[in-house]
Amino acid sequence: MTFTPRFPRFLHGGDYNPDQWLDRPDILDRDIELMHKAHVNCVSIGIFSWAKLEPQDGVYDFDWLDGVIDRLWKGGIHIILATPSGARPAWMAQKYPEVLRVDEHFNRNHFGNRHNHCPSSPVYREKVRAMNTRLAERYAHHPAVILWHLSNEYSGDCRCEHCQKKWHAWLKNRYGTLDNLNRSWWTSFWAGTYSDWSQIEPPSPRGQSANTSMLVDWRRFSTQQCKDFILWEKAAVKAANPELLCTANLMERFWDYDYFSLSEALDVVSWDAYPQWHGEDDIARAAEFAMNHEMMRSFKDQPFLLMESSPSLVNWKRVNKLKRPGMHLLSSMQSLAHGSQSVLYFQWRKGRGGVEMFHGAVVDHDGLGEGRVFEDVTQVGTALEKLAPLYDAPRDKAKVCIIYDWSSWWAVESSQSGQLGHMQYFDTVNMHYRALWQQGVSVDFRDMRDCTDLSGYDLVAAPLLFMFRDGFAEKLRAYVENGGRLLTTYFSGVVDDTDLAWLGGAPHGLIDVLGVRATELDALHPQDSNALVMQDGRSFPIHELCELNENHGAQTLGTYGSDFYQGMPCLTRNAYGRGEAYYLAAKVDQSGLDAIYEEIISALNIPRALPDKLPEGVVATGRGGAVFLQNYSGRDQTVTLAGSYTDMLTDREVSGTFTFPACSVMVLK
Ligand code: GAL
Repeated sequence: MTFTPRFPRFLHGGDYNPDQWLDRPDILDRDIELMHKAHVNCVSIGIFSWAKLEPQDGVYDFDWLDGVIDRLWKGGIHIILATPSGARPAWMAQKYPEVLRVDEHFNRNHFGNRHNHCPSSPVYREKVRAMNTRLAERYAHHPAVILWHLSNEYSGDCRCEHCQKKWHAWLKNRYGTLDNLNRSWWTSFWAGTYSDWSQIEPPSPRGQSANTSMLVDWRRFSTQQCKDFILWEKAAVKAANPELLCTANLMERFWDYDYFSLSEALDVVSWDAYPQWHGEDDIARAAEFAMNHEMMRSFKDQPFLLMESSPSLVNWKRVNKLKRPGMHLLSSMQSLAHGSQSVLYFQWRKGRGGVEMFHGAVVDHDGLGEGRVFEDVTQVGTALEKLAPLYDAPRDKAKVCIIYDWSSWWAVESSQSGQLGHMQYFDTVNMHYRALWQQGVSVDFRDMRDCTDLSGYDLVAAPLLFMFRDGFAEKLRAYVENGGRLLTTYFSGVVDDTDLAWLGGAPHGLIDVLGVRATELDALHPQDSNALVMQDGRSFPIHELCELNENHGAQTLGTYGSDFYQGMPCLTRNAYGRGEAYYLAAKVDQSGLDAIYEEIISALNIPRALPDKLPEGVVATGRGGAVFLQNYSGRDQTVTLAGSYTDMLTDREVSGTFTFPACSVMVLK
């Protein structure tokens, strides 16, 4: 599958801002020379160019962009062309203040920065339509242009008059009547009942912030707003050439919008990955970013693009640390292993001013195009050329599915319960994922709407799935009944789709399937701990959350080690129909999850990228018959492989026992 039929290759390059250097044609020429030297074949341009493209209201200037595009094309460099809606010109903000966003305190933003537009403003919509149409008419058939980059990192929400009208319409459409809304939001709490739609202001620290059903719906509405804006942008660029595909760059752990839903508006998912390497725990970081890549692949169930990453450091973390030798190739290859069709950077050349002047770039202020970072980038460019045979190859088929659901995430983190404000949904799911990743198991992510057919999976994990949407329990029941293996945990199936507690016991609708009924949730102080004690005596630490439950026929595999609930079941398994359902009642440390999943994987014979046992932090990820062997452990490791392979990166033979250096990667064929 290729998204860029005009150039069906791994893309290597990144964000390029020639508009910051128009008075330096010598630099623009030099850029193309250096791109060749670095094996760069593609750049993203125009992302924040609106002030140059439309210097005055209705006065457009495309001459400079014509020049840049032709120059790149002559130089053999392909182009991802952006629509500039991520930041608007000063004249527009001054003349039409309605294009600016109204924040959660109901104050209108001033001009400046980026990502602060109102998605409903008729003026902004019209300006975007006019701009996108002109860009598309001029460039959508240019042979150098291979993809649309819509805006930049869509994010946030707006509380202006226009958006509030849309909010009311969205609510009317969802709930039909005010009575139904009042019931579904439990507004009898704290005198919250609405007697007219117009009273329903968006959530705000100055207004309603205690209705969690509303908080969840506001995020759903904001997702819809952004999706609608994307479709608006897309319609304008597609009018000139429906074949040219559109992407938008997504982000990690992104709270504002439901990405499963948002991705429906995109042709291609791309995202910006900025891991903080060489901090406390590189293995955890690698597992986190592996999960991010896997999620991006899962949103549309197709390959994705790594749209941004840093060639060295960023400028916006508390501590901006350089990538140590080897890490650039290793982390770039990680994205490929999980299905990326590109390694792209922010940014090609460092600008001279603004907050990003010290952000890592391929070309530094010295303009030399040499040195450690430049060489690292060149090495990745060469690697991508060597790996060309994998371009069309998909990620290994997953036999395991993890449920990740944005509505449930919003609901559990908004709920005042357990570890207040720190229920850690993302991190908890990531711990479960990490146990599978370490074993070289391929995983698909699905959200609750997307689970109509789970029958292709040997194992479905639904950790901390606080919300069970209507009908979801029935899907899981049918899955287990027909032979599937389910693993779920504490605080799952507690609320319904509008964040009202399910009545009749949790996990809602699955008590007989799991053979367990949850009764109470205990939260531990940071200095407290408990343990999961397995039947064979192994013991794994527990922190943060312990749920007490009542056994309804499940087999106890492990019990609590201490406190007044010592001896009560903590890990259980229940046979149901032709399948089995596991219930883990507490937040067990990584070592416990590793052990639990290792046993399930081997019992079910779930395919792994390599059959060999690898040291912790050395992982194997399979794509298209190749295996990306990666070392995140921070030290040299001894690896023993039963088979014989060739490393596609070096053409060397690999077999038997060898030392695998820290921060290194091989692509075994
Ligand atoms: C991204 C953004 C880029 C740049 C980069 C710096 O989030 O899309 O424009 O700011 O961060 O790391």
